[in-house]
Amino acid sequence: MNGHRSAVVWFTGLSGAGKSTLAHAVEERLHQMGCRTFVFDGDNVRHGLCRDLGFSGDDRKENIRRIGEMAKLFAEAGVIALTAFISPFRADRSRVRQLLGSGDFIEVHCRCPLEICESRDVKGMYRRARAGEIRNFTGISSPYEEPENPELSIDTASMPLDQCVDQVIGYLRGRGVIAKPQ
Ligand code: ADX
Repeated sequence: MNGHRSAVVWFTGLSGAGKSTLAHAVEERLHQMGCRTFVFDGDNVRHGLCRDLGFSGDDRKENIRRIGEMAKLFAEAGVIALTAFISPFRADRSRVRQLLGSGDFIEVHCRCPLEICESRDVKGMYRRARAGEIRNFTGISSPYEEPENPELSIDTASMPLDQCVDQVIGYLRGRGVIAKPQ
């Protein structure tokens, strides 16, 4: 009915790596092609569905579990679900991969060195984390486990946004999620 397949495009990376920016830019491009999409990010999940959760290992695990379950339901409804969460732990991401089954989970590593994320410090959180005001901050006082075998690894540190979007769209075409250009 939609003219495309569904999938969960799972962006992972440090805070400030550009996950949310890229997810929304991909969504915009998909909309231009008439695709049905939904972006899950901190703005619409951490303030609502997961407002009871913080940043301990257990809370992050539960955060990712709920997002995975939600994204699965959206994919079952025919939508291309895009998620933008640090999701720092391999085990949590791999649980979502298993939940979705092969083919539907597309892991996109937004690769950006900590120094660059920290120098961007869009929300001033790295400064606060360095000052000890925020505990368990990913990259500073809590680990980020890089994906070992992501479907895509994107250099969000130096590649222009448009080219990052091209890379994701090209991959979705190659996988047959969306149609190849006529
Ligand atoms: S995740 O680890 O559970 O995937 P999520 O992506 O939802 O994290 O939230 C990350 C955002 O929450 C960061 O971009 C930052 O703005 C904020 N934040 C607040 N406390 C922390 C923390 N201790 N570690 C990482 N991010 C934090």
